Amino acid sequence: MQTITTAAALRAALSSRSGSVAFVPTMGALHDGHMALISAAVASHDIVVSSIFVNPTQFNESADLDAYPRTPEADAALLQAHGCDVLYLPEVADVYPGGTDESLTAGLDFGSLTARMEGANRPGHFDGVAQVVSRLLEIVQPDTLVMGQKDYQQVAVVRSMISQLKLGVELLIVPTVREASGLAMSSRNRRLSIPETVAAATINRHLSAVTAGLAAGWPARELEAIALRELGLHPMLTPEYVEICDGDTLLPYENGAPVREIVVATAVRCGPVRLIDNRLFVPSLAEEVNP
Ligand code: PAJ
Repeated sequence: MQTITTAAALRAALSSRSGSVAFVPTMGALHDGHMALISAAVASHDIVVSSIFVNPTQFNESADLDAYPRTPEADAALLQAHGCDVLYLPEVADVYPGGTDESLTAGLDFGSLTARMEGANRPGHFDGVAQVVSRLLEIVQPDTLVMGQKDYQQVAVVRSMISQLKLGVELLIVPTVREASGLAMSSRNRRLSIPETVAAATINRHLSAVTAGLAAGWPARELEAIALRELGLHPMLTPEYVEICDGDTLLPYENGAPVREIVVATAVRCGPVRLIDNRLFVPSLAEEVNP
């Protein structure tokens, strides 16, 4: 695996190779969830590029940015072991040579996609994500962008950005990878104590209960309220929201509406971190997909 720190060197390295290119952007502190994306990329493309860049423009809390785990040596070893060909490991100035102005993404309108959940709770977060992903796509110029279902709203925003900017890149979505306990893998899990890790594992069980309720035809608003209340009963968990949304519009799902898929999404504070998770339910199959 080649490790490259500048956009110019990355362009030069990629132009000397031929074949399809898949790109897996990350913020590092890599785990098996990220590796599932690398493996999906390796299975379907000739060249796999991954980036590790803790993007300052998508953090709302500077304490979260400062505390974000940084483990570049271990990350590089994992990427290499899973068949990644090129690691792009830039400094802020290489990604944003003209400063962090938003010219690439100015004028984008995400409408209802950013009105709720992470969009409502983290002002500016998705503008920062759109900004960095558009810039990284400009640098890497891949055929396929690989992202995780774990960040469902992020995927919806990036899909919309690709379509609005007519970037012509394919989007490959990989199901959420979980610990044996059901806890969705996340770089932020490293900051949890053992009791907090045990507490966080209950989040997935509450989401499962909601999808079971949906399968049984229970009213969505009631299911949200019950899950929110029950999550909040745990002394180590402070839930911010539980929302049952139309997976395409990210507007509240109304029972019986003809939607393609339903996303049940939550954000929960646990100890020093804020965790997000989701599960998908497909009404036409009356079952969960990619749990
Ligand atoms: P990061 O949180 O490092 O995640 C990088 C990619 O890995 C994202 O597409 C995310 O959805 C995916 N991922 C994380 N945990 C996962 C899990 N348990 N199972 C499956 N996929 C998982 O998301 C970001 O970074 C940033 O916002 C980024 C897109 C890199 C832009 O800065």
